[in-house]
Amino acid sequence: MTGGHLPVMPQACIEGLAIRSDGIYVDGTFGRGGHAARILAGLGPTGSLIAIDRDPQAVAVGMTWQDPRFRIVQARFSEVIAVLDGLAIDRVDGVLLDLGVSSPQLDDPARGFSFRAQGPLDMRMDPTHGVSARQWLLQASEQQIAEVLKDYGEERFAVPIAKAIVARCRDAGADAFLTTGDLATVVAGVVRSRQKRPEVGKDPATRTFQALRIFINQELEELALVLDRVVGRLKSGARLVVIAFHSLEDRMVKQFIAGESGRNARRDPVTGAAIHDTPPRLRPIARVLPDAAEIAANPRSRSAVVRVAERL
Ligand SMILES: C[S@@+](CC[C@H](N)C(=O)[O-])C[C@H]1O[C@@H](n2cnc3c(N)ncnc32)[C@H](O)[C@@H]1O
Repeated sequence: MTGGHLPVMPQACIEGLAIRSDGIYVDGTFGRGGHAARILAGLGPTGSLIAIDRDPQAVAVGMTWQDPRFRIVQARFSEVIAVLDGLAIDRVDGVLLDLGVSSPQLDDPARGFSFRAQGPLDMRMDPTHGVSARQWLLQASEQQIAEVLKDYGEERFAVPIAKAIVARCRDAGADAFLTTGDLATVVAGVVRSRQKRPEVGKDPATRTFQALRIFINQELEELALVLDRVVGRLKSGARLVVIAFHSLEDRMVKQFIAGESGRNARRDPVTGAAIHDTPPRLRPIARVLPDAAEIAANPRSRSAVVRVAERL
């Protein structure tokens, strides 16, 4: 455990990175540094690790690390090119992305991610930028809310939940959604009244909170941008390792790697040979799921999928 966050599938990630002792690595999601510490342990004295996180609290933890091989930058990982340029680094030997939120973010009620604890309905990974979940809900239309819940939460009851959210804003005015609990109560009321059989072990507000978090932090846009940008900065033979926690993320990573490895290339109608409009840049190496022991030790890993690809 590092600062309240147990890293997910650390062995698969470190093996996937195939660390070279003198290599340059990027951890785009430092969190509390569980994976970063293991990368540093695999590096020799001339290796280096650049860590990125958009959360000022995560960066403050990284700033306390005393290791000349380690640097941390507060940025969105989609800004990886500017980060590397700023450090005069051209290409790197590996990149790790451990997507989503960290346990300290989820567990601190003040961050507003958790439907289990009472806190302000914020949900920003970087609370110094953008609008909070509450600010957005107070000015969004019923249709916009329903779309977010459907697209990012795959919520079956998106429309009635959106209706209930808008009604709560209208009825409670400035008192609406001051807390995460207020939203959780409104959502639970709708879901419980419509669900024939409750999903075992799943809070009725899970999908709504996931959807809002993904939307507020533009998580899928960030992922699309970083994947595209980072591949151009990988050395030949360098590894890309991504841990996804839900099907929307994993589908994007899977399709990206397939596209970059030429799997979707058109075929010559006569010879059947692949026609590459652009040369393939990646080779898929592995897809790893947590085993029972990992899930028992770290329940957060139960939905994780690690994908590893190599730069050609
Ligand atoms: C799952 S945690 C990473 C945990 C970390 N691997 C560890 O072992 O401690 C994800 C972290 O990535 C950060 N993050 C998520 N999306 C980001 C983005 N687009 N840019 C930068 N940081 C991001 C979050 O703030 C969070 O600290």
